[in-house]
Amino acid sequence: MIQLKTTLLALLSISQTTAECTRDSLLLAAQTYISTQTTGTLSTLALSQNFTYRENNKIIDLKKGILVSPLKITFNRSTADTTACASYTNLIVLTPKPYVISTQIRHDSGTGISMIDSIVATTKDLFFNATLTQSYLRAENWGVQTAPVNRDLLKRVGDAYLDMWTDAKAADSIPWGTDCERVEGSKLTRPCGGQLPHGGSTKPNGMRRYVIDELVGSVDVLCAFDSLGNMPDSHEIRVEGGKVKYVHTVTVLA
Ligand SMILES: *[C@@H]1O[C@H](CO)[C@@H](O)[C@H](O)[C@H]1NC(C)=O
Ligand SMILES: *[C@@H]1O[C@H](CO)[C@@H](O)[C@H](O)[C@H]1NC(C)=O
Ligand SMILES: *[C@@H]1O[C@H](CO)[C@@H](O)[C@H](O)[C@H]1NC(C)=O
Repeated sequence: MIQLKTTLLALLSISQTTAECTRDSLLLAAQTYISTQTTGTLSTLALSQNFTYRENNKIIDLKKGILVSPLKITFNRSTADTTACASYTNLIVLTPKPYVISTQIRHDSGTGISMIDSIVATTKDLFFNATLTQSYLRAENWGVQTAPVNRDLLKRVGDAYLDMWTDAKAADSIPWGTDCERVEGSKLTRPCGGQLPHGGSTKPNGMRRYVIDELVGSVDVLCAFDSLGNMPDSHEIRVEGGKVKYVHTVTVLA
């Protein structure tokens, strides 16, 4: 009897784990995060007992972070990583104070959100103009693709992009699309396969955290942009037809 009970409990916890990591649950949790950011009320978040909040690469108390400030969000887009049980959300706020926020959310085995990890950029950060960024992002298509994009390819492209500053060969290893578009802060470059760094720094971009969505064909990497001086950073890339289509960067000047 006891054994049966244990088995049932084990089965129950497995099904809960799986349920939490489905695409729908991850995107639903991302929606809850977005509504939390609009109200500033943390109680709606299902946090794990072992929860960590990181903002601009520093672990801080959630109650001291941006989430407790109610913000008027004018743009949001989320992706889901069912393998890592994580999601990525990009938010834009225009008034009264503008923000561009890149957030990765990680879930524990059935116990809730184990980490919220945000890069929060505002005025004076790299090429910051939230109005302009929003106008570019709204014009892009980040819909689900007809066939999933290979996870390893997405990871490789994300890493190669961040390696360009330290590895002279990285830029040429990336399959650039001919009509690829890069939005760095609010700086638009099109096509994006030209004018790229070919090494030069000795410090690799570190602290890399990934959210890979094969259906959208995207990889988001949060990192410390150490190659140019320890800046909290998000790089997100979309691959279409095996080639890079969009690149977004959010970089905080620490
Ligand atoms: C709590 O979270 C931290 C950071 O994610 C992790 O290193 C640690 O192993 C976790 N502890 C437990 C008891 O799960
Ligand atoms: C998030 O974006 C979707 C459209 O992609 C929109 O329908 C929804 O209202 C937005 N949510 C918030 C809180 O702005
Ligand atoms: C942001 O860009 C828009 C469009 O180019 C421009 O009108 C506006 O003045 C810029 N805002 C700031 C704060 O530079």
